[in-house]
Amino acid sequence: MATSVRPLAGRRLLVGVSGGIAAYKAVELVRLLAKPIADGGAGAAEVRVVMTRSARRFVTPLTFQTLSGHPVGTTLWDLTQESEIGHIALAQRAEVVIVAPATADLIGRYAGGLADDLLTTILLATRAPVLVAPAMNPVMYAHPAVQANVATLRQRGVVIVEPEVGPLASRAEAADAGPGRMAEPAAIVEAAEDLVTPKDLAGLRVLVTAGPTREPLDPVRVLSNRSSGRMGVAIARAARRRGAAVTLVAGPMEVPPPTGVEVVRVETAAEMAEAVLGRAEAVDAVVMAAAVADYRPVKAADQKIKKVDGEDGIRLDLVRNLDILAELGRRRRDWRTAGRRGPVLVGFAAETADLVHHARAKLAAKGVDLIVANDVSAPGSGFGSETNAVVLVRGDGTADERPLAPKSEVADAILDRLRELVAEA
Ligand code: PMT
Repeated sequence: MATSVRPLAGRRLLVGVSGGIAAYKAVELVRLLAKPIADGGAGAAEVRVVMTRSARRFVTPLTFQTLSGHPVGTTLWDLTQESEIGHIALAQRAEVVIVAPATADLIGRYAGGLADDLLTTILLATRAPVLVAPAMNPVMYAHPAVQANVATLRQRGVVIVEPEVGPLASRAEAADAGPGRMAEPAAIVEAAEDLVTPKDLAGLRVLVTAGPTREPLDPVRVLSNRSSGRMGVAIARAARRRGAAVTLVAGPMEVPPPTGVEVVRVETAAEMAEAVLGRAEAVDAVVMAAAVADYRPVKAADQKIKKVDGEDGIRLDLVRNLDILAELGRRRRDWRTAGRRGPVLVGFAAETADLVHHARAKLAAKGVDLIVANDVSAPGSGFGSETNAVVLVRGDGTADERPLAPKSEVADAILDRLRELVAEA
C-alpha cells in the first residue's frame, strides 16, 4: 500500500467552533486544513464549519466562509441553511469532526448527550471520528467536573488534543498556571492526520536516527555538518503515525522532534553509536538518516585553541569514528548465526555523483537491506531542505527512483519498503 500523500488530502472535514477567545486560532486551523498541499496545507478538499452562538461573538461566520469556501452552519432553526445542507447530512458527510476550541460548556453538553444546538446535534448524529481541542482557563480545565466529562468523551473514543501550558489570550487570565491554552493549529492538524492514517506499522518497533553529530575541537568549537534533522524527523513522525513504536536518536537538530516518540538526545558520533547499538536488537528496524561524522579530533583541547602569532594555519589530527551502520550489519550477521533475527537495516547515502553506483557499494559493504541514496548537490534535495529526491536501492540491486517530494512523502515511501522488508525477514 502506498501512503505517500498527506492523509487529510481530499477528505470531508467538519470543524465545530465553540465560544472562547481561542476561536481566533480556529481561523488558522481552517486555513491550514483547506489549503492545498503545495501551499503547505493539509490539502483538504472540503472543510465545513459549524459555529455555536457564542463562537459568533468572537469571530464572524464570514471569516470561516471565506477561508473554507462554504456557507457556515450556525443554527438548527434556519430553513435556508437546513435546505442547503441539513444537520444530519453534515453529520453523515463528515469523515472527521474537529471541535476547536471546545469550551467547558460544549464538552459538558457533548459528554451529557445534549443536542440543543447545531454543533451538539451533529456530534451525536455523526459516525465519524471526533477530535476535541479544549480551551479554557486552567482552573476550569482542572475542575473535577470538566475532567470527568473529558474522561467520558475519551472513554467513548473521542480523541482529546490536550491543551497546553502557556500564556492565555485573555490578559485577565495571565495569572493562572496549568494546561488550558488550546493546542496550536498545526498540532491539531497533526492529530487529525494521525486519526485517519491506517496503522499498517502497528506492533513494529522502529529506531530512527536524525540530524548531525558534533565532534568537539575545544570547549567552543565543533566539527559538524549541515544536516537539519528534517529527514529523520519526517521518518519518525510517519512511522509513529502509521502505528509503530518509535525511538528517535537525535543529534543537535534544527527542528523539534515529533510528539509521541521516545527521544534520545546525543551529541557526538560515539554517543550516537552507544544509543543505537544498545537498542538495536530490541527493535524490528533501524533507519539511519543521521549524518554521522566519519572523523573526530584525536583529542579535544581542554582550553580554547588560541591563534599563534606568525603562524598561517594549524593542523587538525583526526581519527575515524565507528561506522554505526556497518557495525549493525556485522552484529546482525552474528545474531543470525546464533538463530536470532535482528532488525531490518535501512541506511542512507549522501552522494554528489554516481548515486546508484555508490549506494550499491555501501549496501554491500555495510550489509544492509536498503539504501536511500540522495544526491545532496541537487537543488531542493538533501541537507536542510523541506524536500528530497531519492533512489531506493534494494538488496537485489534494483533501484527505485523517486521524484523530488516533501520529506514526509519520501518518509512514507521508505516506510512502505521497510514494511515489506520486515514481513520478508
Ligand atoms: O537532516 P536533513 O537536513 O533533513 O538532511 C537529510 C540528510 C541529507 C542528512 C539525509 O537524507 C542523509 O543522506 N543522511 C545520511 C548522511 C550520511 O552520513 O551519509 P553517508 O553516505 O556518509 O553515510 C552512509 C550511511 O552510514 C548513513 O546511513 C549514515 O547514517 C551511516 N553512517 C555514516 C557514518 C558513520 N560513522 N556511521 C554511520 O552509521
